[in-house]
Amino acid sequence: MLTREENELLTRIGPGTPMGAVMRQYWQPAILSSELPERDGQPLRVRLLGEDLIAFRDSNGKVGLLGANCPHRGAPLFFARNEDCGLRCIYHGWKFDTEGRCLDMPNAPGDRDIRNKVRAKNYRCVERNGIVWTYMGPQAEPPAPPELGWSEVPAEHKVMTKQLLECNYAQALEGDLDPSHVSFLHAPLDPRGQSGYQGTAGILSEKHLSEVALEQDVKARDRSPQISVLKTDYGLFVGARRDAGDRYYWRFTQLVLPFYVYVPGAVGSPLHCNVWQPMDDEHTMVWRIQYLHERAFSADERSRLLTGMGAHIPPEGYLPPSTEPGGAWMPRANRTNDYLQDRGAQRKVSFSGIRGIWAQDRACTEGMGAIMDRTQEHLVGTDATLVQMRRLLLSAAKELKHHGAMPPGIGVVPPIMAASTVFQPKSLSWEQLAKDYMRGKAPATA
Ligand code: FES
Ligand SMILES: [Fe+2]
Repeated sequence: MLTREENELLTRIGPGTPMGAVMRQYWQPAILSSELPERDGQPLRVRLLGEDLIAFRDSNGKVGLLGANCPHRGAPLFFARNEDCGLRCIYHGWKFDTEGRCLDMPNAPGDRDIRNKVRAKNYRCVERNGIVWTYMGPQAEPPAPPELGWSEVPAEHKVMTKQLLECNYAQALEGDLDPSHVSFLHAPLDPRGQSGYQGTAGILSEKHLSEVALEQDVKARDRSPQISVLKTDYGLFVGARRDAGDRYYWRFTQLVLPFYVYVPGAVGSPLHCNVWQPMDDEHTMVWRIQYLHERAFSADERSRLLTGMGAHIPPEGYLPPSTEPGGAWMPRANRTNDYLQDRGAQRKVSFSGIRGIWAQDRACTEGMGAIMDRTQEHLVGTDATLVQMRRLLLSAAKELKHHGAMPPGIGVVPPIMAASTVFQPKSLSWEQLAKDYMRGKAPATA
């Protein structure tokens, strides 16, 4: 449970807020490169950390991110002409380049002085391996963009998808740090049944599929995992242990600040990371990155990752795209239609009666209200990780505000483990396993 003040501190990320200041110290993933497919193409509305922005790709292919409104008299730059290396406002023709410099002021040609003084709000962008990153912080010389395991690999090694969530980032992120919900929300009624309601999107071999069935079985039998949490210099390392008879079944999760979670996938699935990027206090863009270090995905693997039941692309697809921020990424199964919950399926097939794990999560996290009121909750032992996550972020906000201390993890390259879901002998201690997995050196599985 948090006090009202702590809840406000945790959840408000707009300009001028303490948590907003923390977020702005880290580079933000702004958009996929594919969202701006062509030079001089249509600009894109983007909302990041409570700020409305316009992204565009200029005649040289360079991406710019400007404030959404023209510095002259505030007309929307979304409607601007994207031409000859800049955005030209349709109201009076003022033109701005990707750095926000005013290149032309055709309705006041004599006012060269003003032209040199006017600057559109703009944020520095770097485009790397299929993602446009932006730095919205105060440092004149920002830190290097982060290395997150997937950010460095070529776009062909990744499958990247997004969904727009209508709730605050913190409660969405908390879902990834709560290992006990998978035994309920995401469970089929018969762990061995092919329900079609959960499924695993993956590139699994036959051998792996039998291990997945085993995992389902353990999750169904032990629904109250033992949670251990280690604080690292970039976030948290979490182990959830379930009893699997002669062995333990472990799921390891890593939080890399400010909002990256490496969640355990099924055995044999590619590595993956969820990104809970705050658009504003009441909207979050969740990115799902599935990736391989060593090679590109084949076309067949790519299509299975995109369309399997565990895939991030919703089984019913997205709503027709709108040009609002994030408007291309709203699933058809959403709050307005109760996520298409099927009560018949809930009796016979799956715990939730909702198709697809992402819709199941959304139903719970969006349904908490746009900003969850944490003064009303009752936490138990399996919520230990959320408590740690909140402490980490709250203390980062206070430290930065009162002492100017940089938040943790900036400039740190976190070790990303090679495997995250494993059966291990009962004799291996949590401390030993955590040490080995954090160094990316998993001991041989039993
Ligand atoms: S408002 Fe954009 S040029 Fe006047
Ligand atoms: Fe979930």
